[in-house]
Amino acid sequence: MTQPGRTQDDSGGVYDDLKLPSGTWRPYTAIQMVMTVDGAITGPTADYWPISLDADQRTFRRFRIHFDAVLHGARTLGMRVDRYMWSAELQRERRRRGLDSPPLFIVVSNSGQIDPNDRVFQRRSYPIRPVVVVPETADVTPGLADVAEIVTIGMDSVDLDGLMRYLAAERSVRRLVCEGGAILNYYMLTAGLVDEFFITVTPSIIGEPRPRTAVEGAAALPHDELQQLKLISTATHEGEVFLRYRVCGACPLA
Ligand SMILES: NC(=O)c1ccc[n+]([C@@H]2O[C@H](COP(=O)([O-])OP(=O)(O)OC[C@H]3O[C@@H](n4cnc5c(N)ncnc54)[C@H](OP(=O)(O)O)[C@@H]3O)[C@@H](O)[C@H]2O)c1
Repeated sequence: MTQPGRTQDDSGGVYDDLKLPSGTWRPYTAIQMVMTVDGAITGPTADYWPISLDADQRTFRRFRIHFDAVLHGARTLGMRVDRYMWSAELQRERRRRGLDSPPLFIVVSNSGQIDPNDRVFQRRSYPIRPVVVVPETADVTPGLADVAEIVTIGMDSVDLDGLMRYLAAERSVRRLVCEGGAILNYYMLTAGLVDEFFITVTPSIIGEPRPRTAVEGAAALPHDELQQLKLISTATHEGEVFLRYRVCGACPLA
């Protein structure tokens, strides 16, 4: 079993030395999540956030150095995802890797009901406008087009396959990280658009009766059609366990 590039330097992330393939018709895509030992990806209120320790937060923040774009479901906004959008650290690390621009920040929404005042859209220092992807029938919140680039893909719901083609062909996105949440993860996975699943187990228990988990569809997958994963690596760092999986059955990249 391979071990990911681990650093003992507290300023580094567990996956700093990652080498990822790139896609052609669609980006090479990874999901990155964290969960507690009892499987919760979040707690009942915002007071529980962040749920992870320093090693995961550092790794999460620095993971973006490998990607051309970052994808979010509409309901992860509000949890301060803007904090990691663009920092001197990210800029420095990307430059070292020959990448001058920051990753494109993309949000998908079927409804178009997104608050233009969310901090993601208020980061004046971010050099690229966030992209909001909606279907034709979306009722886009007034004022959103002033702070985000609105891209329409799909009729009643966003066509994720079409979105991947658009990102690869029109935006030169070769590697994409999907940072959740659970609902978007489900649709990305079941569309065969995810190549790797990175999940950290953080050493705490929330104990909610029905916690939010890392992947949530409207119903469970049939018992004989479960999404299968293959373990690529494990690493432990400062008490957290970093698991890296290949997703079986992803669509071919070329
Ligand atoms: N622990 C972690 O690593 C982690 C990471 C991220 C998030 N979280 C937690 O996860 C929660 C948010 O996740 P969530 O599952 O509720 O929501 P989500 O996946 O972030 O967003 C769901 C929304 O995204 C849009 N969407 C999802 N799939 C779509 C598709 N195929 N096409 C078009 N739009 C799509 C829809 O927006 P509209 O409703 O606008 O149509 C949908 O309601 C938060 O509590 C957050 O704290 C945890």
